[in-house]
Amino acid sequence: MANDSLTITDNRTGKSYELPIRYGTYPKYGAAIDASQLRQIKASDDDFGLLAYDPGFTNTASCKSGITFVDGERGILRYRGYPIEQLAEKSSYLETAYLLLYGELPDAGQMEEWVRNITHHTIVHENIKKFIDGFHYDAHPMGLLVGTVGALSTFYPSAKEIHDDARREKQIWRLIAKMPTLAAFSYRHSRGMPYVYPDNDLSYTGNFLSMLRRTTELRYEPDPVLERALDVLFILHADHEQNCSTSAMRVVGSSHPDPYSAIAAATAALYGPLHGGANEAVLRMLNQIGSLQNVPAFVKSVKAGEAGRLMGFGHRVYKNYDPRAKVIKGLADQVFEVTGVNPLLEVAIELERIALEDDYFIERKLYPNVDFYSGIIYQALGFPVAMFPVLFAVPRTAGWLAQWMEMLSDSDTRIARPRQIFTGSDEREYVPLKKRR
Ligand code: ACO
Repeated sequence: MANDSLTITDNRTGKSYELPIRYGTYPKYGAAIDASQLRQIKASDDDFGLLAYDPGFTNTASCKSGITFVDGERGILRYRGYPIEQLAEKSSYLETAYLLLYGELPDAGQMEEWVRNITHHTIVHENIKKFIDGFHYDAHPMGLLVGTVGALSTFYPSAKEIHDDARREKQIWRLIAKMPTLAAFSYRHSRGMPYVYPDNDLSYTGNFLSMLRRTTELRYEPDPVLERALDVLFILHADHEQNCSTSAMRVVGSSHPDPYSAIAAATAALYGPLHGGANEAVLRMLNQIGSLQNVPAFVKSVKAGEAGRLMGFGHRVYKNYDPRAKVIKGLADQVFEVTGVNPLLEVAIELERIALEDDYFIERKLYPNVDFYSGIIYQALGFPVAMFPVLFAVPRTAGWLAQWMEMLSDSDTRIARPRQIFTGSDEREYVPLKKRR
């Protein structure tokens, strides 16, 4: 179309430039100019050309992607076109992982083969146990997970061959299969408990619960309601387009290391309290508030900038209720029927009620995000808060790998190497130490 372009006039020179506009599937969200086109805009011949300044990449599309669609204004989340609410109700985590990675829901034969491949790779090398034993007794399980998943790369040297289809796929099976094992071993280490080997007769989340929970019984039988609740939480956490940890996966992956090293980087990015560590921070905040009558004063101190942020509220993309938070809030009732009600739930509900009626939060479009209620469920399931980001990293592995595969197959991909606006000194002469003041 003739008018699918942007005309820019540089008032320094009076010159005009016409930049083509490209679109994704949804023009409303996918319209962009190529940033490299700005480089032709120069104030003089020796000028480097115009850059786009965008700290935190708030308005920069770092890639094209067909995996996950988020409409933050309307509170919509879809994996490969399927609404998250439908997947949470009808799918399983492993089926959703397949969908994210391969683009389509599997047929019965594909599903059987996929589950078999994942199930057959759940065991880790015995040396991993010795490696974990080397960590301090009170090491945070997320620190352990970052270290051990990175260490896996040394056990599979052929994982470097990322352009070999068969080898790449094998690492995908291994990573999805072994993350729960590493996560469970990290937890058991931090509790001083013996490691439990995978039980391949159980489901993905049933086996995970067994590796976390089993003590002296011969066989661990997961409660079907809790097993399904964890599976739904895993579906909700499986991908979320270009967030901090996924961007870390793509940035690190763009220099072509093996996927274990890139997943270690993504896991580290997820560890921070502004990202996957937020559900841990929510629980600490709810404990600090303690009871219903303290909620109004707490909200007041958040607004006054005295109590930090309201953790579990606000999102870079969602300016509406996070659709995952809605599903999780519903899931809480099913879990609490089995585990008994978590007393922090009523504090959370009151906090949400007050915040959603308050002008400060309304004006800034701050709504509960995925982390607001997930921590309360994880606590009811018996997990200590330090395990919360680990419970996020395990299912997000499928999303990270799907995004990594997409990046590798995209001919536009180049090694990630942003520019800067230099604000330091101009050239100056080195002064020997004795002559410095
Ligand atoms: N509590 C109180 N005020 C907030 C909050 C909050 N949780 N979040 C944002 N604000 C305010 C900011 O102070 C700012 O106010 P101002 O305009 O008066 O300065 C305004 O809202 C905009 O905030 P930004 O920091 O610009 O928003 P940004 O998009 O950069 O941050 C983020 C998003 C990091 C998620 C933020 O909302 C936050 O810190 N939330 C709490 C942590 C959290 O729950 N993280 C989990 C996110 S979900 C996930 O990663 C899985």
